[in-house]
Formats: sequence, structure tokens, C-alpha cells
Amino acid sequence: LDDLLAEGVAGRRVLVRADLNVPIDGTAITDDGRVRASLPTISRLAEAGAKVVVAAHLGRPKGTPDAKYSLAPVALRLGELLGAPVALANDVTGPSARETVASLAEGSVALLENVRFDARETSKDAAERAALAEEFAALADVFVSDGFGVVHRKQASVYDVAAKLPAYAGGLVLAEVEVLRTLTGEPKLPYVVLLGGSKVSDKLAVIESLLPKVDALLVGGGMCFTFLAAEGLGVGDSLLEADMIDTCKRLLAEHPGKILLPADIVIADDFSAEATTQTVLAANISAGWKGLDVGPITVERYSEVLTAAGTVFWNGPMGVFELAPFAEGTRGVAQAIVDSAAFSVVGGGDSAAAVRLLGLPEDGFSHISTGGGASLEFLEGKDLPGVAVLEG
Ligand code: 3PG
Repeated sequence: LDDLLAEGVAGRRVLVRADLNVPIDGTAITDDGRVRASLPTISRLAEAGAKVVVAAHLGRPKGTPDAKYSLAPVALRLGELLGAPVALANDVTGPSARETVASLAEGSVALLENVRFDARETSKDAAERAALAEEFAALADVFVSDGFGVVHRKQASVYDVAAKLPAYAGGLVLAEVEVLRTLTGEPKLPYVVLLGGSKVSDKLAVIESLLPKVDALLVGGGMCFTFLAAEGLGVGDSLLEADMIDTCKRLLAEHPGKILLPADIVIADDFSAEATTQTVLAANISAGWKGLDVGPITVERYSEVLTAAGTVFWNGPMGVFELAPFAEGTRGVAQAIVDSAAFSVVGGGDSAAAVRLLGLPEDGFSHISTGGGASLEFLEGKDLPGVAVLEG
């Protein structure tokens, strides 16, 4: 981005791929973190006189326009934050997009409609994606890749378009990659990873690649029950991936003492804020009850490890933090990270949202990544297509 700004962008059409995939309830954005994270690049370009054309996706529509996934609420929010209205095209690269871009004044910002309304965006067929990328390229003079959360996707507006226009890394992509490289490089020890979220199967690749590098892996969230089952404990009606139990047994055996599991669990008779709850030792989860959060003993133990860490990477909530009775586990460990002097990185949409929704200070963490899958794939050591294409 600095190189591009040094070249000068006044009057040039700059296509910015941003990740504006925010949680929406009806038309209300419940966490605008990704919109705010996209602002610096967009406003620097606008202030330098560019005609900024933003491309983004929302959710996973089926390759066809669907009002439920319209970027309209995002265009509004982006305009509010920029302090200037953002015109929303009502198609991706069609007549409305062309007209919106043609009437864009220097220093102003327009948003294309959800790029996933065009099935070619996510097509596995490279020729189909390339055809859409040509259409994106016709709307702009240069391309800035700033949607870090989506750089692990080989999609037309992320990957293919970078080959059709002079392409630059935006400030957010650069910052994210730099921070995550400190984790894959030589993190300050002890290196502690805190993992939550619902499924072990989603996190298996990152667990396998991190375990040899970390000093401790603290497990919470729905995925802890498959580990507890691998230890031979009953988990009642808690979330369980029976086909992953053997894998968890192997991981526990291959890395003795490194994987820490919850000592106590908040269990409930129902998945609701009104459920009857009790806190029990992890060995005492009865049939008919499901674990929805880690308990206070676990928070205390995990907090001790987090406080002593040199580096912390956290992905995934410890419990169903959206429901008040099951928020304390996530709040407790997050607070321990805030209180520790460790270099701390929060990765993942859900954990980043938890930080904001639970009212924790964002500046209590060294870096809050906008990438969920993208940051995990980076830590796995996978090539991220949207980054690789910029490195050329
Ligand atoms: C995310 O939310 O992780 C990114 O926006 C990517 O979305 P996707 O998983 O639907 O590709």
C-alpha cells in the first residue's frame, strides 16, 4: 500500500478486496470489527484521491443474488465510519457496478454487491473464475488485497484478479502476516495456545502442527468433550465427535503433559439461557446434562499458565459465551491474557467477537486477527493463495 500511495493514486480506480463478512441479525450488524479493521486502507486511499471500489462477500449465498446476504447494512456502516456515504452497486460486475464506478468522484468510496452473488467467484473451474476476474479488472486500474480473513480462499476477487491488475498488499494484510510470522518464526517462550470452539475435527490440522512447537495447549469449548472422552470420562449429552476419540487419544499419548483439559465444567439441562445449571468436576458430567462452559477451577489453572507465557495464541471461545450463564469461562481466560505481559494474538471471528461482546479492552491484546480460517491455515504452514499471489 505504501508503494502504491508513493506512486500516487489520485483519480485512479482502486479495487480493494476487503473482508466485511460480519455477523448480522436481520439488518443489524452485531459486531463491526471487520468493517473497522478495513477502514485504514480504504481511508488512506480515499484521502489520496483514489476512486475506491470495495469488493467483499457476506456469508455463503448460493452463487445467486439473495437479499438476505446483501451488503446494504455494511455499506451503511462503512459510510458512517468513513463519515461519507458509500454507494452500493446492486450487482457484482454488471451494469449497476459499471455505472457506480463511472460516477465515482475522486476520494470517494463505492461497494460492489456481495461477490458471492456470482457463482464464478467461488468456482473450482479456473477459467470461470478468470472470466469474473476480467470483469473486476475492467472496473479498476489497480488492485489492493486487504481482506486478510479470506486470503485462504482461491476465489476470483481474492486470487484471480491479482493476476489481471497491478496488485498490492493492503495495510491489514501486511500487518496480519507480519504478526502471524512472529508466531511461526521464533515466538517468545513459553508459547501457550488456548483453543476452543465446537469441533476437534475443524482444528485437527492446526493442533497437529502446533503441538511440537508449543509449551502448552489449553483446550476448552465444545471440542474439550472429545478429549475428555479420550481420557475415559463420561461426557453426558455434551458435544462429542465419537470418530475423533482415537485421534485425541493419540495426541494425548504423543505429547504427554502438554495438552491441558478442563478440570470442571458448567453443565446445563438445556441449551438456553434459562436452563438449570450446575458446576461439576469434569469426571462428573451425568447423562441428560451437557457441558456449555469451563468452570472456575479450569479458569484459575489456565490463567496461571497464560500469565506465565511469553507468547499466547487464542482461537475459539471456552463456552457458549453468547448466553450469560456460559460466558464466564471465556471471560476469565480472556482476562488472564489481558493481564499477562505475553505477546498475545487473538485469531478467529468468534474469539475476536467474544472480546468485544464481553467488553474486554481490545488494546489488552497485542493483536486481534480478523482472520478465522485464514489465521489457522497460516499457523498450519499452508500457503495462502491470496498472499502467495501477491508475493508472485
Ligand atoms: C471468514 O469469516 O472466516 C471469512 O470471511 C471467510 O469466509 P468463508 O469461510 O465463508 O470463506
